Amino acid sequence: MRGYFKAKMTVAAALLASTAGMAAAEDVEVLHWWTSGGEAAALNVLKEDLAGKGIGWVDMPVAGGGGEAAMTALRARVTAGDPPTAVQMLGFDIQDWAKEGALGNLDAVAQAEGWDAVIPAALQAFSKYDGHWIAAPVNVHSTNWVWINKAALDATGLGEPTNFDELVAVLDKMKEAGITPIAHGGQAWQDATIFDALVLAEGTDFYKAAFVDLDPAALGGEKMAAAFDKLIKLRSYFDDNFSGRDWNLASAMVINGEAGMQFMGDWAKGEFLKAGKVPGTDFVCIRFPGTQGAVTFNSDQFAMFNVQGEGKQAAQAAMASAIESPAFQSAFNVVKGSVPARTDVPDTDFDDCGKKGMKDLAEANTAGTLFGSMAHGHGAPAAVKNATYDVITAVVNGEYSDGASAATALAEAVAAAQ
Ligand code: BGC
Repeated sequence: MRGYFKAKMTVAAALLASTAGMAAAEDVEVLHWWTSGGEAAALNVLKEDLAGKGIGWVDMPVAGGGGEAAMTALRARVTAGDPPTAVQMLGFDIQDWAKEGALGNLDAVAQAEGWDAVIPAALQAFSKYDGHWIAAPVNVHSTNWVWINKAALDATGLGEPTNFDELVAVLDKMKEAGITPIAHGGQAWQDATIFDALVLAEGTDFYKAAFVDLDPAALGGEKMAAAFDKLIKLRSYFDDNFSGRDWNLASAMVINGEAGMQFMGDWAKGEFLKAGKVPGTDFVCIRFPGTQGAVTFNSDQFAMFNVQGEGKQAAQAAMASAIESPAFQSAFNVVKGSVPARTDVPDTDFDDCGKKGMKDLAEANTAGTLFGSMAHGHGAPAAVKNATYDVITAVVNGEYSDGASAATALAEAVAAAQ
């Protein structure tokens, strides 16, 4: 391995010298939304890695899970003609910026380091535009997870739920025990994160038809109605203060035993780890009941904007190279809760949830049950995603009493957004 890393470093160094005409890499200005405790810990791994390579960091954090606020801030910067060097970005947003011609080109570093062979096609679909590399994927997260307080689960006397009925039985027992069964933060992207899982639980073909192919019959049909009915059922297990709560505060409720479980992507694991909690001992990670064998994913990527000046471009190439190094992929994702964006990184340093995440991802990829998360910008472009948010959030806020009318509204909203 040592020799391998050394060889890659030499290639990267030679490449930087050639692409940037020997210009020294300047500091990178990085726009991101990694502001929770676990996220900041992961970000530090990146900052320190770059610092070790002599690349300084200018931080531009824009708080707000899911990144909506960050994307608004980004639009303002680009409109002002002053894009940041690198921007944390999800799925279709990367492609939208590429279409506008706003992104730079990472082909030289990607070719020198052989990214094509080790970054899965499902990610390349977002990291490349018109055959050119425009973004460096940092990780793969998945959204169909449940994070359960182990003591609270044990107190129910029931096992880990494997289907919706078993889930409801566990939630009822937690309610009887006097804790909030589901820790939820009422923000559109969090509502939609739960809904990703409910749609996937109706079947993998159905998820694809509804949230990838945007088939109107699937969007407005019986299975969608059933998924919404389940969402209506689940909201009865939230506490009264869920509205507007940040996702990491919901994680904290599970961590400290105030709540039983949270339905959230595996960035939640970063919060548990930051709090010193151990998987299997303090908390349990399971796939959302009914979605075993399938994965809805999102991948944080650093999109590189068109910046002027060789020093800035050298910094972009150096940052991208650092991000794709196998050693960094392991170190960062162990802390973040996600899994590597490369297929050749060993799972040795990952905890049991991380090992499961890597195995699930590989298996779903082979089985054809790996799909982009609608909630996190990998199912459809922002206009459609936002249309789904509106209907899902209306359901969470009690504006629909039955799933069938919500499904009809969803089909209409998605049609209007295209
Ligand atoms: C990102 C994660 C992040 C989460 C909460 C997701 O969209 O992919 O990296 O931790 O939002 O902020």
